[in-house]
Amino acid sequence: SVQAKIGPSILNADLSNLAEESQKLLDNGADYLHLDVMDGTFVPNLTFGHPMVKSLRNKIKTAFFETHMMVQNPEQWISPMADAGVNLYTFHIEPVEDVCKVSRLVQESGMKVGLAIKPGTEVKALEKYMSIADVVLVMTVEPGFGGQSFMADMMSKVEWLRESYPNLDIEVDGGVGPKTIECCAKAGANMIVSGTAVVGASDQRQVMKDMRDVVKS
Ligand code: DX5
Ligand code: ZN
Repeated sequence: SVQAKIGPSILNADLSNLAEESQKLLDNGADYLHLDVMDGTFVPNLTFGHPMVKSLRNKIKTAFFETHMMVQNPEQWISPMADAGVNLYTFHIEPVEDVCKVSRLVQESGMKVGLAIKPGTEVKALEKYMSIADVVLVMTVEPGFGGQSFMADMMSKVEWLRESYPNLDIEVDGGVGPKTIECCAKAGANMIVSGTAVVGASDQRQVMKDMRDVVKS
């Protein structure tokens, strides 16, 4: 199987220093950056939007940017996020009426399509969109905040996806760190988001190396 990629979430980083924090994560081995966008409606928290992502892109030219859109109306932000230099636009299917249409618009704007599900959403709800999805994100915490505990029972979703779609990129997000990454990789996840475990570490490089060592075997 392919080597899993590690994408730190900058949610719990020093957001007033986002470019430096991001560059440090990349220098320490991050494969991509996971940018958590929250609108205060889909989730009870507020982070940042496309102006911030665009400013970050101006300083960090080549890294792969994923925006995790925890927003009520993901269609609204497609073109500003494409313009801001986002590579992968991951949105939650729960509030969206026409997931196929939104996915198509994301694709037409030149970004990859990620479809995310909350812990309470059945994995089979994704089935009818799988021909258009580049990535599926299985949330392993309730979206909204960093630093929550990993929900191991979400691994059955990952297992089902891996069995059904051998070549799919499957991402996990929430409470993932050196202790919880193994069961994610075993279940079949190959894109690993990690927030506080990496960002809060005194030695980021070591933590990312430890995580990579676990998923290598
Ligand atoms: C939760 C976010 C996650 C999360 C990751 O709403 O989508 O990206 O903050 O942070 P940790 O790894 O601390 O759970
Ligand atoms: Zn996220």
